[in-house]
Amino acid sequence: MQIIVVSSNPGDERVATLIRLLQHLGHSPLVVAGWHEGALGQNHSRSAKLIVVTNTSGDVTVAEEAIAHLDASHNGSFLIYVADTINPEIYKRLIKSERGDWISWQALPQELSDLVSKVMNLAGEGELAKVVSFFPSAGGVGNTTLAAEVGYWLASENKKAGLKVAAIDLNFQDSSLADLLDLEPRLNVSELIDRPERLDDRLIDIFTSRHSPTFDVFSGPTRFDGRQKAYSAVVFPLLDALSKRYNLVLIDLPHHWSPWVDNVIQGSDGIVITGGNAVPAVKQLIMRMKHVEALEVPHEQIKVVVNKCDVTFFGKIPRKADIDRVLSRGSPIYVPRDSVTANEAANTGRPMLEIAPRRSVCKSIRGLANWVQTVTSRPSVSAN
Ligand SMILES: Nc1ncnc2c1ncn2[C@@H]1O[C@H](COP(=O)(O)OP(=O)(O)O)[C@@H](O)[C@H]1O
Ligand SMILES: [Mg+2]
Repeated sequence: MQIIVVSSNPGDERVATLIRLLQHLGHSPLVVAGWHEGALGQNHSRSAKLIVVTNTSGDVTVAEEAIAHLDASHNGSFLIYVADTINPEIYKRLIKSERGDWISWQALPQELSDLVSKVMNLAGEGELAKVVSFFPSAGGVGNTTLAAEVGYWLASENKKAGLKVAAIDLNFQDSSLADLLDLEPRLNVSELIDRPERLDDRLIDIFTSRHSPTFDVFSGPTRFDGRQKAYSAVVFPLLDALSKRYNLVLIDLPHHWSPWVDNVIQGSDGIVITGGNAVPAVKQLIMRMKHVEALEVPHEQIKVVVNKCDVTFFGKIPRKADIDRVLSRGSPIYVPRDSVTANEAANTGRPMLEIAPRRSVCKSIRGLANWVQTVTSRPSVSAN
């Protein structure tokens, strides 16, 4: 939603502060001097906008013009009037329209952010989730396990901040994410394949397996229907819907490549490439790394995870120096093999990080979770 700041006095210090506040919130407001200027005049009837009308002079006609404009527009635009005072009659009309509000210059720093996000949410443009894809270089490397552990950990670590995390298993033929956490698999994509537009809030609720109040899982029952190709129609509506509901979405990608996989990778804020440390496994990791690089994903958004590493008696990881060298651009994290903990986790349906947080496998996974947290806390490039 484009934000337009109407100001007859754009040089005013308070207006400059307002613009800085909006920019800080990730918006690029367009500043116009009056109602009939530029984009506001031409495009006003076409798409909904957030119009911020500033009054720095105390001239009462500014508010009157603003409300007349709001009354005349029927495109879902919202109006914020910023002035030291407001005539009670006009204030009433603004509130009654449900498309307008007033903020005093003094309260601007406290109130602007909440109001802007409220308007964006109303317009269906709330902040979108950060997305991290887990991309396996082979089957069985622990991709699903790592996505589940990281999701569990970040949700519980950021519970107070209210971070809402979703993990979705896109291995439609053999999803295992829900099973791993002993949840009922509820994502039924076959309901959507022919009519992806059916996906609404109610259906998302039905598809949700709740692990905790801040961690939800989307994973389906195993099915053999040979409709892999058709799934591409479902993947993007699903991810769009999730990114509106959650702050962080972790995607468990299949290791069999499908055309939609590349688009998912390109739309992600971070990519975790998972594999093993045996010689053929490292070759597969290199292939995956090259694939992701060819999609022009910046190196700082890529993390290679070498999982199930056999550790020597002296705590050394065989071939580590070689792997570090050939995969240096993915700055690898090594996760030791710990079959006892992994099996106990699988048998109890609880994350390893919950049942055995002090094991070294868990320390390494926390290192990965920290990377995911860092790569998703960078401000994203705003599209508008
Ligand atoms: N670090 C580890 N040490 C030992 N076993 C592991 C480790 N990570 C995963 N596993 C086990 O490997 C098996 C495959 O894991 P999974 O996450 O399903 O792999 P993928 O999703 O890549 O096919 C599971 O039985 C899991 O418990
Ligand atoms: Mg898996």
